[in-house]
Amino acid sequence: MGKFQVMDHPLIQHKLTIIRDKNCGTKVFREVVDEITMLMAYDVARDMPLKDVEIETPIAKTTSKTLAGKKVAIVPILRAGIGMVDGIMKLIPAAKVGHIGMYRDEKTLEPHEYFVKLPADINQRQIFVVDPMLATGGSSIMAIDALKKRGASNIKFVCLVAAPEGVKALRAKHPDVDIYTAALDDHLNENGYIVPGLGDAGDRLFGTK
Ligand code: URA
Repeated sequence: MGKFQVMDHPLIQHKLTIIRDKNCGTKVFREVVDEITMLMAYDVARDMPLKDVEIETPIAKTTSKTLAGKKVAIVPILRAGIGMVDGIMKLIPAAKVGHIGMYRDEKTLEPHEYFVKLPADINQRQIFVVDPMLATGGSSIMAIDALKKRGASNIKFVCLVAAPEGVKALRAKHPDVDIYTAALDDHLNENGYIVPGLGDAGDRLFGTK
């Protein structure tokens, strides 16, 4: 079974409180999502493999560590996932970015795939799927289905706020996927929103409604 980790570092908790507040405007919301994602990326990358390289410091020759192994692809689930790309890119600037477009039918709450554009070598990459809200789990399950269909196997899912219902559904369907979240909230309401959550992450990031 993959990992399930709530990344409750004090800085992350503090910043999450800022964006949960309904009075937080679009500019600050976007900036703070970026900061939280960067802080999370630091720890999500903790198990990236290293290899030895020989280098020369100004003082002596030495053996030192450098990243080895799989290259990274960040895959935001459109549209809210886009808000989490730059935070990871700040720490892993060579990552490629794929996009998966999902929308949620507002009546049935069922997710639908409408766009998939991925790096050609996606099957050889360590993939970070990002979406701020893990609500029913429907979109993340479909996005990961879409990735696996194209040969991807090494997948981590990173969100900001998760509902227990979504965590359960995602782990049941994709038990190999590690899940990282900044908070595990209470429940989903009848409209599919996470309670207490932070509202519609896409609307809050992009200033729409
Ligand atoms: N998507 C959101 O943006 N917010 C929720 O609370 C649930 C799904």
